[in-house]
Amino acid sequence: MPIDLTEATITAAVQETFAQAGDRQRELFRALVAHLHDFARETRLTDSEWFTAVDFLERVGRISSPTRQEFVLLSDILGLSVLVDQINHADGGSTESTLLGPFFVEERPRVPAGADISGGVSGTPLFVTGHVVDLDGSPIAGALVDTWHSDGEGCYDVQRSEELRGRPAMRGLLTTDAEGRFAYRSVVPRYYPVPTDGPCGEILRAAGRSPMRPQHLHFRFHAAGFAPLVTMLYRRDCPYIEHDAVFGVKSSLSVDFVSHEAGGSAPDGTVVDVPFQTVEWTFVLPAAG
Ligand code: BEZ
Ligand code: FE
Repeated sequence: MPIDLTEATITAAVQETFAQAGDRQRELFRALVAHLHDFARETRLTDSEWFTAVDFLERVGRISSPTRQEFVLLSDILGLSVLVDQINHADGGSTESTLLGPFFVEERPRVPAGADISGGVSGTPLFVTGHVVDLDGSPIAGALVDTWHSDGEGCYDVQRSEELRGRPAMRGLLTTDAEGRFAYRSVVPRYYPVPTDGPCGEILRAAGRSPMRPQHLHFRFHAAGFAPLVTMLYRRDCPYIEHDAVFGVKSSLSVDFVSHEAGGSAPDGTVVDVPFQTVEWTFVLPAAG
């Protein structure tokens, strides 16, 4: 290993230490070292700034747990998560992909078509009807459809688990019918802040940034012969639609939540005696591979 390294020679020397690594590891570490070193040179990073950054990362690690993904949140608020998603899921005509987020859980109920998935949580009734098709517009029968969303206060069931006694709410796993359709009833979700009580909150406050995620519904699709799709539908008229803390909004995923008067008919034909909303959308699954 060379000695007497200078600002001009240290980058190549460190990169060279990855010569024996596997091809992809070598490529990743060489680029990482180049960008980190360039960052320090370009900003003329001071000792105290470097210590502050290391302390920050240490605190991100300390607060992280299986249920608190502060490192993922850091990646989210720096736009890295959405960038990686875009690199890996070019749309090619299918519905655009977005982040899974921290609130998907494996323990979700399998529910029949038209089910009320609200889990008894109060709120404005919401009726969602979806159509799942391939790139040619042909229906995909038997597709698995995961959906999950927040309540009218912006909380997911996992954030209200004591009150709900661990029961799932506002989430379910459906299957599309022979025409590729699925439907469920729930409650209208609200916008909500990403967690701000940790180190990521400090960044948002320091930058005067909104911590909000605009109102949305999450979906994940699996169907034999198709690539999986993870996506969201965003409420078009949400006040935070252009201020998403994690940069996930796409105009192609912005939808109207249509308001209906009390006494109107829901998509399933039932008469609803309070004001309610409906969302209808067609999802195009990406081809396999
Ligand atoms: C979500 O939409 O559930 C989410 C995504 C990224 C960070 C926080 C929440
Ligand atoms: Fe969400």
